[in-house]
Amino acid sequence: MDLGITGKVALITGGSRGLGRQSALALASEGVKVAICGRTNSSLDSTVKEIEEFGVDVVGILADVTELDDIRSLHSEVCNSLGAVDILVNNAGGSLSREDIQGTSLDDFKKTFDLNVFGGFELMKLAIPHMKENKWGRIINIASIYGREYGGNISYMSAKAALIAATKHSAISLAKDGILVNSIAPGSIEVPGGSWERFQNDNTPDVVETFISNNLPMGRFGWPEPLGDLVAFLSSNRSGLITGSCIVIDGGQSISMI
Ligand SMILES: NC(=O)c1ccc[n+]([C@@H]2O[C@H](COP(=O)([O-])OP(=O)(O)OC[C@H]3O[C@@H](n4cnc5c(N)ncnc54)[C@H](OP(=O)(O)O)[C@@H]3O)[C@@H](O)[C@H]2O)c1
Repeated sequence: MDLGITGKVALITGGSRGLGRQSALALASEGVKVAICGRTNSSLDSTVKEIEEFGVDVVGILADVTELDDIRSLHSEVCNSLGAVDILVNNAGGSLSREDIQGTSLDDFKKTFDLNVFGGFELMKLAIPHMKENKWGRIINIASIYGREYGGNISYMSAKAALIAATKHSAISLAKDGILVNSIAPGSIEVPGGSWERFQNDNTPDVVETFISNNLPMGRFGWPEPLGDLVAFLSSNRSGLITGSCIVIDGGQSISMI
């Protein structure tokens, strides 16, 4: 299937490792020019080298999505080096604690929103004017199954639910402008150096087996390639009728039927 996005410009936050890296590789394999950001030079550099193998223009930019100044300079740096952003993947995010309401300070709650929601919100606002002018744009926000149904800690679940809601609202506002806005809700996907790899290293085989048998119908953790392919499809010209959706990719892990 020709996805029809060769030469487009994509920005993937947190594209140096994990699901962001996989999304960047999938887009590069379609001939998309790719910008990735992260807070660590070494992983940015190694992923930039991998992306170069696809023969596309690529740039790795040091930026922390919780810093609004970084967000603004990240956006201008991408525009200056590759061109205006056609495809935005708000992927940087994660969980900062394991607590319920009684163990969570307001400050920790806000910090989780800084990481998972506010930076992505600001990047959407920066990217939308060009997309509107061009009558073409794709925004993909990486949420979680725990933004759709109960799970994880209170801050993460609330932040991912807010991201899904902001996605839906933006999609409706922009539906007549050729801009498709969707979120993806991954289940437990193992990536090198990621939280599920740490979980397996930090716990006994019994604990890991119990988690898998209680939560993962496929009997194994998820793997990142299908998510990269989903990002590429949602970024493409073939996904024209999909907007405002939250697409689950979890090997059957969610309890919810919808
Ligand atoms: N993997 C899963 O099972 C799973 C499940 C549901 C949802 N998700 C969501 O999917 C997204 C990616 O998860 P992942 O598992 O791939 O995570 P990961 O392996 O920890 O990778 C996170 C990426 O984001 C970057 N990053 C982290 N904090 C950042 C910040 N403040 N500013 C800029 N970049 C930052 C990291 O680079 P630096 O550390 O160098 O900054 C890295 O490139 C997250 O939004 C996560 O909530 C993942």
